[in-house]
Amino acid sequence: MMPTQKWPEQGWALLQLLLVTSFSQGEEPLCSRRGDPENPQLSKDGDIILGGIFSFHSTWKDKEETYTHKPLPLECTGLNFREFQIAQAMLFAIEQINNRTDLLPGISLGYKMYDTCGSIARSVRVALALANGNEISIAQSEAPCTRPAQVQAIMGETSSSPCMATATVMGPFYIPMISYFATCACLSDKTKYPSFLRTIPSDYYQSRALAQLVKHFGWTWVGAIRTNDDYGNNGMATFTETAQQLGICLEYSVSFFRTDPPNKIQNIIETIKHSTSKVIVAFLSYLDMDVLMNKLSQDNLTGYQWVGSESWIFDSQTAEMDQHHILDGAIGLAIPKAYVSDMKEFILDVKPLISSGTKMFTEFWETLFSCKFNQSNASAENQRECTGHEDLNELQHGFTDMSLMPIFNNVYKGVYAVAHALHNILGCNETCNYKVQLDPFIILQHTRSVKFRTMEGDEVYFNENGDPPARYEIINWQPTEKGIVDFVTVGLYDASLYADKQLSLQNKSLIWAQNSKQVPVSVCSEKCPPGTCKVLQKGKPVCCYDCIRCAEGEISNTTDSVICVKCPPEFWSNDRRDACVKKKPEFLSYEEIMGALLTAASLFGTCMTAVVALIFFRHRKTPIVRANNSELSFLLLFSLTLCFLCSLTFIGQPSEWSCMLRHTAFGITFVLCISCVLGKTMVVLMAFRASLPGSNVMKWFGPTQQRLSVLVFTLIQVVICILWLTISPPFPFKNFQVIKDKIILECALGSTLGFWAVLGYIGVLATFCFILAFLARKLPDNFNEAKFITFSMLIFCAVWITFIPAYVSSPGKFSVAVEIFAILASSFGLLICIFIPKCYIILLRPEKNTKKNMMGKVAPKNF
Ligand SMILES: *[C@@H]1O[C@H](CO)[C@@H](O)[C@H](O)[C@H]1NC(C)=O
Ligand SMILES: *[C@@H]1O[C@H](CO)[C@@H](O)[C@H](O)[C@H]1NC(C)=O
Ligand SMILES: *[C@@H]1O[C@H](CO)[C@@H](O)[C@H](O)[C@H]1NC(C)=O
Ligand SMILES: *[C@@H]1O[C@H](CO)[C@@H](O)[C@H](O)[C@H]1NC(C)=O
Ligand SMILES: *[C@@H]1O[C@H](CO)[C@@H](O)[C@H](O)[C@H]1NC(C)=O
Ligand SMILES: *[C@@H]1O[C@H](CO)[C@@H](O)[C@H](O)[C@H]1NC(C)=O
Ligand SMILES: *[C@@H]1O[C@H](CO)[C@@H](O)[C@H](O)[C@H]1NC(C)=O
Repeated sequence: MMPTQKWPEQGWALLQLLLVTSFSQGEEPLCSRRGDPENPQLSKDGDIILGGIFSFHSTWKDKEETYTHKPLPLECTGLNFREFQIAQAMLFAIEQINNRTDLLPGISLGYKMYDTCGSIARSVRVALALANGNEISIAQSEAPCTRPAQVQAIMGETSSSPCMATATVMGPFYIPMISYFATCACLSDKTKYPSFLRTIPSDYYQSRALAQLVKHFGWTWVGAIRTNDDYGNNGMATFTETAQQLGICLEYSVSFFRTDPPNKIQNIIETIKHSTSKVIVAFLSYLDMDVLMNKLSQDNLTGYQWVGSESWIFDSQTAEMDQHHILDGAIGLAIPKAYVSDMKEFILDVKPLISSGTKMFTEFWETLFSCKFNQSNASAENQRECTGHEDLNELQHGFTDMSLMPIFNNVYKGVYAVAHALHNILGCNETCNYKVQLDPFIILQHTRSVKFRTMEGDEVYFNENGDPPARYEIINWQPTEKGIVDFVTVGLYDASLYADKQLSLQNKSLIWAQNSKQVPVSVCSEKCPPGTCKVLQKGKPVCCYDCIRCAEGEISNTTDSVICVKCPPEFWSNDRRDACVKKKPEFLSYEEIMGALLTAASLFGTCMTAVVALIFFRHRKTPIVRANNSELSFLLLFSLTLCFLCSLTFIGQPSEWSCMLRHTAFGITFVLCISCVLGKTMVVLMAFRASLPGSNVMKWFGPTQQRLSVLVFTLIQVVICILWLTISPPFPFKNFQVIKDKIILECALGSTLGFWAVLGYIGVLATFCFILAFLARKLPDNFNEAKFITFSMLIFCAVWITFIPAYVSSPGKFSVAVEIFAILASSFGLLICIFIPKCYIILLRPEKNTKKNMMGKVAPKNF
């Protein structure tokens, strides 16, 4: 039953029959033939003959070849009514052209049609018969073999595989062969099939269109079934390739043929049952679809969304057979609907043929109406007698179904293409030039280049591959109340447009598998939402992946993102990881608690210093103020005020000026402060030395020298600061590194050396001061400042020694806070240790505030 596999053996046998042996018997006329003649099943004479190859029967009776006698002709069975319709369409076109006066005027077209019975071997045989004209009468005539080919063009065939065989045979003779339904992309190869043309688009486009359709509905995980012949295998190969480019994965791809053993089909059913994909792309011929559908119905396999190729998707017989509504909601591509006026009536009017008594039409009529002609033993056969006047219109039969009208239209266009080519060759105007010798090659050339409009307005032309422009309708199987399926056109596909416009779906509601209005979902993994990215699963196709949340600082703002992108430096990912948000700037501000407290402390210190200064000023005449070098004291109080105030420059958003001011103001005021304290310590030391007999140290370190030393110490720091500021000043800096999701606004030091020089200088002075004060602490005095200075310097040094590690280790605004704290702490230390005891005496113990009391045992001279 399976035609494909039989082809090699039978084909060779036939070819040998046809070609061998004319050499052996020299006396025979040169032009003799071997083998049996092939007579056309349908024929009509005419000036120009067109050939037709159809499989009126779909199969044949299998029989064993014994090789002891000549094989009998095939015994064909299984009438295929579609092919009758197609043949009728061809007859319609021929008759219409013969009727026309503007196309091939005065020339009648005839036809010869052969039945192939679905056998590839027979296809080749009848193709050769068409080319040679092997009627017995010709062979026996004494005419030399110079006749042109019997037919000028061949219409056929329906399926791709027989087409490939016959086109291979016809190719060398350049007899144009026009198919109306063979879609295999392989037939576009003009080096293999030079004379092959077709009026149905190549599957090259259909496969692509199917892939785009699948992609359009978001199905990335689909199964595929194909017919195991050239149509299915080539179509699916292109589909697979395109699908891969579009990011669609096939969960499985199986092939089968209608004659496969049951266990193979069962395997396919098992594959479908165990699959997770819900969409099945079926590149099947309608014959295979029918077989598969029966099997699926038996196993109750519903709920799958079918996507179909044009062979079955608009086949109403397939739809009728689908009793279990397995295919409901199927979507697929079809040849655009067409209407050829009067064709339907012509096809249904078979009476002229039956009356001509053709043997095959007798069989056709008998099968159609289940009756028998000229039946003598009617009672035994239990069948009605045919009258020849049965009414087709009363018949519900596949033959009356006109859903294949687009295919008939393709046949019609093919015949017209040949007619237009002939019209051009024969130079027809009002009459044609009969003298032109017709040559198949010329006809082929002209047919390939015709361009015309049919009476229905379709434009017909062939591209360089002999293919027509690719246009498809997208149709959807929508079940109606009556239980039959409506093929609703829901969109168009036009391969001649730009890639993004090729597929256009109309705004029509689609019905999906199981009567659902929702587009089915068929994915291996759900879409990755924004904020995540795909990570492929090991050993699985690319459509299977896990969604991994983006890392901190990375985002993905599209669905199904492949990678997470890093945010720019000033940005950070939000919680959902789908957008970059600006990092929050961080700096010590007045608003927050820490900043407010430090500000308050600084202002408090300033006020306190002012109060102390006021007290000192009010009591400037008292001995305790005078005894302690009131000038240095006031200078110290002044510099302490500055120290407190300069801590304020550290608070707030760093600007260029505040950055430059910060460390320099701090450095200079502190040096001023410490040099005042140093002056005081020196004074204490000097005063003691001066009180020793014979010493005039005090002359060397009088008020002038004191002022000068303060000035010099301070000036050194000023110079350091100026160098720092001119060579590499501090500047505001956005630090992205330390804290990931914040920008730290800080002052970069510019030159680290400058910073440490300023601090170091303060340190050196403080240490020096501490050492001197330490030496002087035990000196006898009723009110020995040295003790307090020692103590204050101890605090000072302790604070700054702890500051350094804290400063280095604490990031961002905390290092600033630590620095402010150190400034405030050391300033308070100085203020409290040096001035509070004196205030205490001035305010609460005025009785101690006498000159006598100040002198103590060893009174310094000058005070
Ligand atoms: C051709 O012309 C004949 C006679 O006029 C008519 O009966 C027939 O229907 C025509 N055929 C077509 C296909 O138009
Ligand atoms: C098929 O499925 C339908 C609905 O799920 C159920 O009613 C029916 O019995 C099933 N038939 C078979 C043969 O499993
Ligand atoms: C039936 O038989 C009659 C003569 O008996 C003959 O004329 C006619 O053509 C036959 N019909 C068919 C369809 O064979
Ligand atoms: C009809 O019947 C006769 C005998 O009754 C038989 O010889 C003949 O072959 C039969 N013809 C057909 C066509 O069955
Ligand atoms: C066809 O005939 C018309 C009038 O008879 C004439 O004008 C025209 O040139 C002819 N065309 C060709 C191609 O012969
Ligand atoms: C499509 O149809 C729906 C409902 O029929 C309608 O709401 C919508 O506006 C239509 N869209 C377009 C683009 O026509
Ligand atoms: C996604 O982010 C990129 C870069 O961050 C941006 O250019 C693009 O506009 C964003 N797209 C959407 C849809 O937000």
